[in-house]
Amino acid sequence: MAKKLAVIGAGLMGSGIAQVSAQAGWDVVLRDVTDEALRRGTDAIRASYGKFVAKGKLAAEAAEAALGRITTTTDLDAAADADVVVEAVFEKIEVKREIFGALDKLVKDDAILASNTSAIPITKIASATGRPERVVGTHFFSPVPMMALCELVRGYKTSEETLAAAREFAEGVGKTCIVVNRDVAGFVTTRLISALVVEAVKLYESGVATAEDIDTACKLGFGHAMGPLATADMTGVDILLHATDNIYTESQDEKFAPPEIMRRMVDAGDIGRKSGEGFYRY
Ligand SMILES: NC(=O)c1ccc[n+]([C@@H]2O[C@H](COP(=O)([O-])OP(=O)(O)OC[C@H]3O[C@@H](n4cnc5c(N)ncnc54)[C@H](O)[C@@H]3O)[C@@H](O)[C@H]2O)c1
Repeated sequence: MAKKLAVIGAGLMGSGIAQVSAQAGWDVVLRDVTDEALRRGTDAIRASYGKFVAKGKLAAEAAEAALGRITTTTDLDAAADADVVVEAVFEKIEVKREIFGALDKLVKDDAILASNTSAIPITKIASATGRPERVVGTHFFSPVPMMALCELVRGYKTSEETLAAAREFAEGVGKTCIVVNRDVAGFVTTRLISALVVEAVKLYESGVATAEDIDTACKLGFGHAMGPLATADMTGVDILLHATDNIYTESQDEKFAPPEIMRRMVDAGDIGRKSGEGFYRY
């Protein structure tokens, strides 16, 4: 019998996780709070499968079959018989804790409870349940169908068995996993990109090199697909400032202290692509 996955939150990440999982043979129930959100999520999945079919990377019958394995609901109780639950709702700790508390009361004893949080410590989410050993971070990247990485995050009490089950799930849906052995702020990926962005901004701020030259150095010198300042503009200077501040607060490591110019850019509204100006003009 196919294994059952419940995905909580049908936004950008939840719909992507549902998509790759259904394609890998999981029976998926996708839960959101409104029918409208569920419709947006399933429309996005259908459109994405359509693109893979058009490119000849997925057979039309396989796409149809995968779509047929996804059901939608606004009822959290639908997660009751799931083997794995992946939560991908807004990045708000209260919302996530409430969901994990509710899931704890209804899922099977041996279910794996995973969160796709990009920054909240897994331990803080797990402590909303009476089974923190069964809670783990599965940090997928956007767009989920294209990005090969899944960062597996051990909370303070996550068991080896839970980590192994999370790995089996993520690898089964086509991802390569890295393990974050301690539940540190920013995990591995956000810590790395924050350190790089902070140093790039310091070089830019102190006039050592232009934004273009700093990005060119990373692209041509290190083979990065995109330079750190262009990445900051794409992600949003506000989002990166928040992430970096959070890592700095938790770690007290000076290298994550955000340069002042990042704060002034956010104060001025120059937060990157979405505002039309950041380190570059759009
Ligand atoms: N966007 C990214 O690039 C990215 C990458 C990695 C991780 N993440 C993380 O993934 C999570 C989801 O991010 P996203 O970009 O998909 O957000 P999103 O805003 O696209 O989607 C969130 C969805 O959660 C739903 N939701 C809110 N409360 C809910 C509840 N109680 N029950 C069910 N659904 C509920 C919303 O209606 C919405 O559809 C966040 O924790 C985020 O930090 C995001």
